[in-house]
Amino acid sequence: MDYQAILNVIEKELKQFNPGGKVPDYIPELSAVSPDKFGMHLYCLSGEHFFFGDSSERFSIQSISKVFTLALAKKYGKKIWRRVDVEPSGDPFNSLTQLEKEKGIPRNPFINAGSLVIADILISHLDNPKKELLEFVQLITQDETINYDEEVAASEKKHGYRNIALVNYMKSLGNIENNADEILDFYFYQCSISMSTEQLAKAFMIFANEGRILETNERVIKPNSVKRINAIMQTCGFYDEAGEFSFRVGLPGKSGVGGGIVAVHPQQYAVAVWSPLLNEKGNSEKGMRALEELTTLTGLSIF
Ligand code: DON
Repeated sequence: MDYQAILNVIEKELKQFNPGGKVPDYIPELSAVSPDKFGMHLYCLSGEHFFFGDSSERFSIQSISKVFTLALAKKYGKKIWRRVDVEPSGDPFNSLTQLEKEKGIPRNPFINAGSLVIADILISHLDNPKKELLEFVQLITQDETINYDEEVAASEKKHGYRNIALVNYMKSLGNIENNADEILDFYFYQCSISMSTEQLAKAFMIFANEGRILETNERVIKPNSVKRINAIMQTCGFYDEAGEFSFRVGLPGKSGVGGGIVAVHPQQYAVAVWSPLLNEKGNSEKGMRALEELTTLTGLSIF
């Protein structure tokens, strides 16, 4: 498969495509990013990689971090599924209403409420969750330069009214163990991690490679956890647009409001794309188009 030729076609076709939409203004630090950024990077199981555009420029990974925290929390066994479900929400990522009906149990670990519960679990089990999360991401990417962006974390903390409401509401319903401020601080830091599409594609190779790091072959998560996390990415990775992403792209994936999307084809490749303009569901519109083109032109999707 000539992936580079296919990526070149995608770049040419979409470079001038203006998807409309906007950068998120509820995290002011993110609204300063140029909406014209566009990059894509694909890593294959063979170690070969292909790319175009702003593929090595770092951006805020935001909700993509929820996959990393879930991978860490999976070590604490089946008990986590008593506190967070695995069903698509059909609601926006920061919705409050579903929680009331469902007694404080979030629909899945990728909506904000679910990831706040995962943050709570990590805080209960780890001595220094911020350090251990960063070390995990650095390990799977084999890159020690990956770091938090303190300014993005501070910017979100200042305006994080929704997340503050979500965590306190779940605490009132008994689904939060630790101090709300501590959970929010960890959550805002996890979302602020800054990575390029090249680093994200490499990191997500653990989900294409049965839980093994591409470069070292070291197993960091069990194959069974990979199966489950890929399934949740497929059904819940794009919130109330998970069906649309599945329909158009046909791969498990995860988006973030920094404009990044990562998708995985088990046993084949991991691919990341970045384009900051978001549609009304909070997903990168051009990123989705690029991935749709990729699975169409390669003829490779999980379906
Ligand atoms: O908590 C928030 O709202 C953001 N830090 C993350 C949301 C996000 O990335 C949703 N993804 N598309």
